[in-house]
Amino acid sequence: MSFRGVFITIFLGTALIVAAFMVNAHRPGLDLAHPTAALVRATGKCAECHRQETSAVVHEFEMSRHNAVGVNCLECHRPVDGQEALDHRGFTISRTMTAANCKQCHETEYDQYLRSRHAAPAWASVSGKGDFTVEQIAFSERFHKGAVDRKPMAITEREGPVAVSKGCLKCHEVGRPNRDGSIGTCTACHARHAASVELARTPETCGQCHMGPDHSQIEIYHESKHGVLFNAQKAHFNLAARPKQLTTRDMPVPTCATCHMSGLEGQKVTHDVTERLSYWLFAATSEKRPTYAQGQANMKDTCLKCHTTPRIEQYYKDAEAVVDSTNALVKQADDLMKGLRDEKLLTPDPFDEPIDYVYFDLWHYFGRTAKHGAFMGGADFVQWHGFYEMNVKLVELKKQAEELRAAHRASSRAGGEGGGKRSTGAGE
Ligand code: HEC
Ligand code: HEC
Ligand code: HEC
Ligand code: HEC
Ligand code: HEC
Ligand code: HEC
Ligand code: HEC
Ligand code: HEC
Repeated sequence: MSFRGVFITIFLGTALIVAAFMVNAHRPGLDLAHPTAALVRATGKCAECHRQETSAVVHEFEMSRHNAVGVNCLECHRPVDGQEALDHRGFTISRTMTAANCKQCHETEYDQYLRSRHAAPAWASVSGKGDFTVEQIAFSERFHKGAVDRKPMAITEREGPVAVSKGCLKCHEVGRPNRDGSIGTCTACHARHAASVELARTPETCGQCHMGPDHSQIEIYHESKHGVLFNAQKAHFNLAARPKQLTTRDMPVPTCATCHMSGLEGQKVTHDVTERLSYWLFAATSEKRPTYAQGQANMKDTCLKCHTTPRIEQYYKDAEAVVDSTNALVKQADDLMKGLRDEKLLTPDPFDEPIDYVYFDLWHYFGRTAKHGAFMGGADFVQWHGFYEMNVKLVELKKQAEELRAAHRASSRAGGEGGGKRSTGAGE
């Protein structure tokens, strides 16, 4: 063996020992000190049967970092506090698994995630606060006022439980409350057995939920220079790079994860996707968040790993101007709707008349799209799917408002005092 070979062997040996040490630091101490016989033989035994029963699960697991560092099937599948045990072929496994199973070894990620809007707020926007404990509500309200202590969005009542459980909640269950007291699931972005950062960094993973006219982030990304470059060059990237060592050499082009979560070149990895935001863009009228300054500084810090300050400052200035303009258009629509309600020409129910839907589309589809397009580089979404459509809806709103007033005047003349008033609905 040459001198160099010996050196490399020693180096690799040391690196492996250090790596094993670091890896083990993530595990609960108990099992390290006394690995039970069941744990030692678990993966072998589970895999023996499951290679036949559910071979895809075993193949996915084999590709994972968990497999590489020796995390086994049972360590993840065993019941943690509050989970129902299932007797399974000589092993005790949990009947259902949640973020609590991952939290055993990944407390930091769980805590960050718990503060984010992906946790309780995601579930509450569809189901209200009813499924949460008083403590869980208080915790989330500290970070997102009004996001958990709230009623479900009104459209859920109109669409009914089938649409809500098969539609809304399939995306919003990223923050579901679990019976074991934990919140949410980690597998929405990592999958169950691949436990992959490569998957989580792929735009389509976020695009499972962040798509469609009300939050067209994936469509905007694909239109942006970033998305086009990513698709053309991804074969040359190292999407599996270790999160704490991620550089612009591994990924010179950002994906959703890079801007919102990654620890690029010494930045902190975060599972709190709120940390780098400065506006509530999803709202009808977008105001600055209480964390505006810090949020914007955090995101700009990411841009500046790849861009220069003057360009990024200009980019933000332009995007903020779009927020102001969409807010002004939404205000016109708000004033118009308020006028009709004050005149009792509309019921208080926000989803029972054609004009309600014109108003809703104006801000919920097109206003949001224009704002998202401006911050994420989608010119067509700012304009043709954004401002243009907002103007179409505003004209439509004005026309329908005139028609409602004309119909009211005509029926007042025909039916005398009060004859043209609309039923005020169950809400009043
Ligand atoms: C002796 C064979 C055998 C062994 C050993 C075994 N399994 Fe299974 N497992 C099965 C079979 C068979 C099923 C049912 C498959 C089906 O319904 O299609 C199953 C189902 C499961 C399910 C689904 C349970 C449910 O109710 O949905 C999980 C999870 C699971 N096994 C995990 C494990 C884990 C983890 C281990 C090791 C700790 C393990 N299995 C060991 C054969 C085995
Ligand atoms: C990183 C944690 C983790 C590891 C390691 C792991 N699993 Fe799982 N597994 C899960 C989760 C999470 C689910 C989904 C459970 C649920 O929905 O309640 C699951 C589901 C399953 C299912 C049901 C699949 C289905 O679609 O019906 C089987 C079978 C299973 N695991 C077997 C295994 C086997 C065998 C191994 C080892 C080779 C293994 N798991 C390793 C987390 C893990
Ligand atoms: C028994 C402990 C244990 C459990 C349970 C566990 N993990 Fe891990 N996980 C680890 C270890 C150890 C590593 C490797 C850490 C390292 O390389 O620094 C790891 C790494 C990871 C990574 C990084 C993978 C990469 O490519 O760098 C992800 C993502 C991950 N786990 C997700 C999960 C999810 C999701 C669950 C629950 C479904 C889970 N883990 C359950 C111990 C665990
Ligand atoms: C399973 C569905 C799902 C997946 C996958 C998902 N998200 Fe989300 N995300 C949501 C939902 C639902 C919300 C809105 C929560 C609410 O009601 O406030 C959200 C909100 C957000 C927000 C806004 C947070 C805030 O404070 O307003 C960001 C940023 C975000 N997600 C980024 C991502 C990124 C990046 C990925 C991929 C790495 C991703 N999401 C994957 C469902 C998902
Ligand atoms: C395709 C996945 C998906 C479906 C289906 C879906 N949502 Fe969402 N929802 C999201 C995402 C992603 C966001 C975050 C948008 C953003 O921040 O730009 C969101 C945001 C929201 C918000 C605003 C955030 C907040 O905290 O107030 C509400 C309210 C909401 N959704 C309710 C619903 C309701 C009710 C349904 C069903 C009628 C539904 N969603 C269906 C993915 C989905
Ligand atoms: C919204 C999508 C999303 C969800 C939900 C999510 N993760 Fe992640 N996770 C990511 C992304 C993206 C990365 C990689 C960040 C980067 O590019 O370095 C990551 C990285 C990780 C890592 C490696 C971190 C490191 O510094 O080495 C672990 C461990 C992990 N996640 C565990 C979890 C656990 C546990 C949960 C549930 C509490 C969870 N994740 C939920 C997207 C997600
Ligand atoms: C080049 C960086 C970059 C990329 C890539 C990127 N985003 Fe964004 N994203 C931003 C910026 C900047 C904002 C606006 C931040 C603010 O409020 O100051 C934003 C806003 C958002 C919001 C709005 C939250 C709200 O207030 O309603 C969501 C959700 C989101 N992004 C998800 C995604 C998803 C999903 C992808 C990938 C399909 C993605 N982003 C790709 C930079 C990026
Ligand atoms: C990981 C590196 C990386 C990050 C982070 C990043 N970008 Fe980029 N961006 C690029 C690359 C590479 C290009 C293509 C530049 C070229 O062709 O030289 C690009 C192009 C652009 C363009 C289009 C320029 C043109 O020629 O059309 C804009 C605008 C832009 N980025 C804005 C941003 C903003 C704003 C952020 C932060 C919210 C950001 N970028 C974050 C790498 C990055």
